Amino acid sequence: MTSLKMATPSHISVLLQEAIEALQVKPGGRYIDCTLGGGGHAAALLAHSSPSGRLLGIDADPEAITITRARLKAYNDSTLLINENFANLQVICIRYDFLPVHGILFDLGLSSLQLDSLSRGFSFQHDGPLDMRFSPEQEITASDIVNTSSESELAHLIKTYGEERYSRRIAHYIVEKRPLKSTLQLAQVIERAVGGRKGRIHAATRTFQALRIAVNHELEHLELALRQAVNLLVPQGRLVVISYHSLEDRIVKQFMQRETKGCLCPPDIPTCVCGHTASLRLIRKKVITPSPSEVERNPRSRSAKLRVAERIVTQDEQYEIAEKLCCSVPIKANGWRRPATLKKLQEWLDYEPVGTFSRLG
Ligand SMILES: C[S@@+](CC[C@H](N)C(=O)[O-])C[C@H]1O[C@@H](n2cnc3c(N)ncnc32)[C@H](O)[C@@H]1O
Repeated sequence: MTSLKMATPSHISVLLQEAIEALQVKPGGRYIDCTLGGGGHAAALLAHSSPSGRLLGIDADPEAITITRARLKAYNDSTLLINENFANLQVICIRYDFLPVHGILFDLGLSSLQLDSLSRGFSFQHDGPLDMRFSPEQEITASDIVNTSSESELAHLIKTYGEERYSRRIAHYIVEKRPLKSTLQLAQVIERAVGGRKGRIHAATRTFQALRIAVNHELEHLELALRQAVNLLVPQGRLVVISYHSLEDRIVKQFMQRETKGCLCPPDIPTCVCGHTASLRLIRKKVITPSPSEVERNPRSRSAKLRVAERIVTQDEQYEIAEKLCCSVPIKANGWRRPATLKKLQEWLDYEPVGTFSRLG
């Protein structure tokens, strides 16, 4: 693998080499980067899929699209950059006729470009407006939540999305001191509520995380997008997700685990009523984390966790595909039987399966 040093002036891509390896990027493949950011992962995806690879890059933040468009200028013909929310992944792919795909990457959260921009209001280290929106088209800002929610709503939000043990105290102080206009004002109120720094992290870290998650509906959008992503992958296509806190990672872990299982009915039900079939295979049970040298180079990578799974073809889908192919060849319970069927299937999927189908055939 070529050496990967894909850093923008202010965002260093996390687990870059690991993500490219996990996605098994191949020349000529079609890939989606659902979280374009500064374009570091996107640039590596394009470099490793060239010649003739294609990339669909998505970001809710129009500034990320502008910056990355300039960065990826050399790949103009093979790149499609869309300013959208990844919660609409399937619609985007259908609209732009970008399917099926060989790999999908989510590098969640926010980029250093956003964190370090004073006007975006993501950081408690700089003063800025209480905004925190990924897209300026979103209606609700952090200020709306901070200044209009009831004390109990705020406490619930800070506890649920920030896993903050002092949530009630913080909510009480916020309500007492509002209206709050700026990030530093809010950070000071939180510090006063909890009495300064708690352990290794700043006292405001968890509350700022909670507000950002709530403003952008981050967890709901992640759940929606993961489901859609699986349906867009070719057999053996890879789904790779990099998360930065336990709430995100829990969603990814539980989703991937569930999708490796067939029937999800409770064990005391004699016949399956859920109809669920496995659609993923875990490539690694354990998460991939940054090396000590990466954390030293880029401290913002320290909480990153990468999970990877591979699309498998369910029995139902095999029948469905066979119907689409109008093939009359026999299909037995354990898979495809005839090379002709296999060949047709490969043509139909515009893909060269190597493991799954040859094992079945
Ligand atoms: C960690 S950064 C990605 C950095 C990128 N991988 C790189 O190498 O430069 C996450 C990006 O995802 C975007 N994002 C977060 N949630 C999103 C969503 N639901 N839909 C679209 N973009 C989203 C953010 O705006 C941000 O630019």
